[in-house]
Amino acid sequence: MAKDTVTITDNVTGKTVELPIYHGTQGPAAVDISRFYSELGYVTYDPGFQSTASCHSSITYIDGQQGVLQYRGYPIEQLAEKSSFLEVAHLLLYGELPKQEELVGFTRNITRHTMINETLKNFYNGFNHDAHPMAIMVGVVGSLSAFYHDALDIRNPQHREIAAHRLIAKMPTIAAACYKHSIGEPFVYPRNNLSYCGNLLNMMFSVPCEEYVVDPVAERALDLIFILHADHEQNASTSTIRLAGSSAANPFACVASGIAALWGPAHGGANEAVLHMLDEIGSVDNIPKYIEKAKDKNDPFRLMGFGHRIYRNFDPRATLIRKMCHEVLTKLGKQDDPLFELALKLEEVALNDDYFKERKLYPNVDFYSGIIYKVLGIPTNMFTVMFSIARTVGWVAQWMEMIGDPNQRIARPRQLYDGAAKRDYVQVDRR
Ligand code: CMC
Repeated sequence: MAKDTVTITDNVTGKTVELPIYHGTQGPAAVDISRFYSELGYVTYDPGFQSTASCHSSITYIDGQQGVLQYRGYPIEQLAEKSSFLEVAHLLLYGELPKQEELVGFTRNITRHTMINETLKNFYNGFNHDAHPMAIMVGVVGSLSAFYHDALDIRNPQHREIAAHRLIAKMPTIAAACYKHSIGEPFVYPRNNLSYCGNLLNMMFSVPCEEYVVDPVAERALDLIFILHADHEQNASTSTIRLAGSSAANPFACVASGIAALWGPAHGGANEAVLHMLDEIGSVDNIPKYIEKAKDKNDPFRLMGFGHRIYRNFDPRATLIRKMCHEVLTKLGKQDDPLFELALKLEEVALNDDYFKERKLYPNVDFYSGIIYKVLGIPTNMFTVMFSIARTVGWVAQWMEMIGDPNQRIARPRQLYDGAAKRDYVQVDRR
C-alpha cells in the first residue's frame, strides 16, 4: 500500500532495512517501524512520543505550526461559530454532520440516558464532602462498569454505540452530583427538555425549593467551551484510554482512566491551576516577580495556561475562547473584574518577554476557560470536571474507532532498560 520507502543502514552491522512510508490526507507522513526490531534488533526510543504516531485516526487533525484544528475535516472556527455541542458530538462519533432528523434522533438517544442508577448515588457517600470532584469522577465513572458489564460485548458495534451514548449522557449528571455532594445539597434529576449544557447548569445550580432559569449567556458559553474541548487527537488522556481499551477493558473503566490522566496540571488540570496561579500572583504589581520565577530553572513554578506540546504559534482554541471571554464578561457586566485585568496583563507581559517568545509559549485554551468558568459561578475545583464532560465525546469516538479497527492489537510499548545487570541473590545477613 505504501509507495514510498525510507532505507536505514546500520553503520555497526552494515545491515539495511527498507521501511514503508504512509501518507495521510494531511500532516506529516509516517514511517512504519514495526519491523525495526525483527529486522535490525533495535527498539526505537522516543520519550514523550515527540515523533511517534501511536495509531492512525480519521477523527481530528491538528497542525501545530499553523494553529489548525479540524474535527473530521471541519475547521474548529466554523464549528464554534455555527454548530452546537451535540451536533459536534455526532460529527466526532459518526464522521458526518447530522441531517436534521439524525440530529433529532441523536439528541433523543442522548437525553434518554441522562439518569443514573439510584444505587450509583451511594458511591458519593463514600467520599468526604471535601474530596476533590475529579477523584469522585474517577470513582463514580469507573463504577459504571459494574452496572453495565455483563450486558456489554465490546465486539458488537451496537453495544459500543450504546456505551458511548450512555457515557456522553451521564457525564453531566455525574459531574453535577459531585458538586451537589461537596456543598451538601440534594442531587437534581436531569431535565430532558433542556439543552445539554442547560441541563448541566440546572443540575448544578437549581434547588428543589426555588425556581431556576438557565441563563442563555452561560448556556451558550458552556456549549462553545465544550465544542472547543470535545477532542484533541492523541493527547495524554485519549492515549491513556486507547492504551487501556486496547486490552479489551470495559469502556466505562477506560474512561475513568482517561479522567485520571486529564486531572494532571500539565493537561486538563491546567484550567484549575490557572486560577490558583492568578490568586497567588494576587495583583498586577507582582507579575514581574512571577514571570522571573517561571523563567528560573531552579524554581518549579510555571506559568499555567501557557505552552503546548503541539501548538507552536498559537492555539486556535485560545483565539476563539479569548474572544468569547471578552463577550461573556461584557454581557455579564464583569469586564472590570480584577481577576480578568490581572490575566490580561499577565498575558501581555509574557507575550512580550524573550523567554516565552523564543520557546514559542503562548496562552493555551485553559488560560481563558478558567476565567469564563469563574464568572459563570462554577467553583474552581470543578473546572477540570467540566473539561472531562466535553472530552468524553472525543474519548468515546477514539475508543470506538480503535475497537472497530479489525487490525487492532493490544498496545505494548518497549523500553530501553538501564537498571542493574544480572546479579545473584545475597542472603539478608550478608548484605
Ligand atoms: N512556563 C514556563 N516555562 C515553560 C512553560 C510554562 N508554562 N511551558 C514550557 N516551558 C519551557 C520549559 O521549561 C522548556 O524550557 P527549556 O527549553 O529552557 O528547558 C521549554 O519551555 C519547553 O517545555 P517542555 O516542558 O519541554 O514542553 P512540553 O511540550 O513537554 O510541555 C506543556 C507542554 C503544556 C506540558 C508545558 O508547556 C506546560 O507545562 N504548560 C503549563 C501547563 C498547561 O497550561 N497545560 C495545558 C495544556 S493545553 C490543555 C490540554 O491540552 O490539556
